[in-house]
Amino acid sequence: MLIYLLEPSETVAQKLGQSLTEFRQHHRLKMKLCDALEDFADCLPNQIDVQNCLALSRCVLPTIRNAQFMEETRLFPQLMQAYPDDQRLQASLDRLRQEHLEDDSYADEVACLLHDCGCTGKPSNAESAGYMLRGFFASIRRHIAFEDECLIPLIEHGTQRHKDTARN
Ligand SMILES: [Fe+2]
Repeated sequence: MLIYLLEPSETVAQKLGQSLTEFRQHHRLKMKLCDALEDFADCLPNQIDVQNCLALSRCVLPTIRNAQFMEETRLFPQLMQAYPDDQRLQASLDRLRQEHLEDDSYADEVACLLHDCGCTGKPSNAESAGYMLRGFFASIRRHIAFEDECLIPLIEHGTQRHKDTARN
């Protein structure tokens, strides 16, 4: 693939290395959130832990938005700096930015749903609540899988080059 023939500069490679650690940490946090939401959805409609529900409602938006902010303000620009002529990468990042908008809006709805469940002790409609939760965490998991498959190899390639340069 053409993108692997292009070599990012050392400075960009260093920044990518720092961003990779943070990127993986955000992925771990989002996966934990998805697991917690799946556990919650499995408990519907009658076995809701109200405190857990309220705690989840508070962490959905920050977990999603912090990850998106880091990617869009640091990682994506660094990747385009590292691989400036890669149109496939540009298209992938455009797709990911679009998914961020959709996930952000979905996260807002899920946070409201969880807050309402926590306040009343049960969802007004358990079937639609379960459907919404499962749609949300499935979308987040798909997004993470795509980033893992498409972005992490590029980042690792860029940072490996920096390590090789530093060693020689
Ligand atoms: Fe993302």
